Amino acid sequence: MTGSDADDPEAPRGCLGCSGDGPPPPATGPADGPGADPHAARRAEVAVATGFLASTAGAIGLAVVYWRGGQPQLEGLFLALALGGLGLGFVLWSRRFMPHQPVVEARHPIASTEEEIDRFRDEFEQGEVILTRRKLLVRTAGLAVGALGAALLFPLRSLGPRPGKGLKETPYGRGVYLVTADNQRVRAEDVNRDGVLTVFPEVAADPEEAEEPPRPEHQADSSTLLIRPSGTPRPQRGRDGWTVDGLVAYSKLCTHVGCPVGLYQADTHLLLCPCHQSTFDVLDGARPVFGPATRPLPQLPIGLDAEGYVVAEGDFAAPPGPGFWDRDR
Ligand code: FES
Repeated sequence: MTGSDADDPEAPRGCLGCSGDGPPPPATGPADGPGADPHAARRAEVAVATGFLASTAGAIGLAVVYWRGGQPQLEGLFLALALGGLGLGFVLWSRRFMPHQPVVEARHPIASTEEEIDRFRDEFEQGEVILTRRKLLVRTAGLAVGALGAALLFPLRSLGPRPGKGLKETPYGRGVYLVTADNQRVRAEDVNRDGVLTVFPEVAADPEEAEEPPRPEHQADSSTLLIRPSGTPRPQRGRDGWTVDGLVAYSKLCTHVGCPVGLYQADTHLLLCPCHQSTFDVLDGARPVFGPATRPLPQLPIGLDAEGYVVAEGDFAAPPGPGFWDRDR
């Protein structure tokens, strides 16, 4: 508005970018805007609601698959349907029902003309229709978002109970026998010079006789290499007496990502992990000397019982296997 317009009380009131007669009618507008084709608006409304309903169906399918135990391909399919339907609904909604140009608020003379009053009445009545349609869209959108949110609660179940001390302790303890894979106790002389034997903690043959039922995952976690190196192992600080009769015992699980460390190079006293070539020095507390592993293989303190069988003198010096979120030793 120019300075002269402002001084002239008879000058028509307008807006920036508008002529004195008010804003120009939009070239294109929302499907449910004034003057829109009601059939086109109905089709657009059905398309948006269909997107939301497809999303709802996908979310329900996702919840059912989770509930029945999960299946990765189906979960991916239903999640794609739920997210795709939701996205399609919102995109169509914005394209078909939102204004396509900047909205300006026109300033009109206070007294409305008959023509403006009629137009307002038309728009108001049209607005009632718009509000009714928006209710349907809002409800179907709410249904889709709610269903997807409920379906995504199911993965929380798969987090399961916390493992407690299960990752930090094994069945080894003072006096637990070391046995071979066929459950035979081991004598010191069963391991030759430069020899390696894979052993496990002995568990009761009859679960009823055990203080607690044997847990297979503990047996797997506690596989142990019993080695008789030709050199003399250098005891780590505070670990005097952890070896017996030239035998030393280490966890068989690589501390990188848990592969079994099965290759022993007797002439160099090195244990090699076949997965990513981490190498551990048997004479130096199974310290990693090469490869991605950063922690030594946990050592097991061992001794002999009165009959010469090898027994554990306690649990591993550290949790066996790779790292986890609250590993503290
Ligand atoms: S698991 Fe042993 S080096 Fe990676």
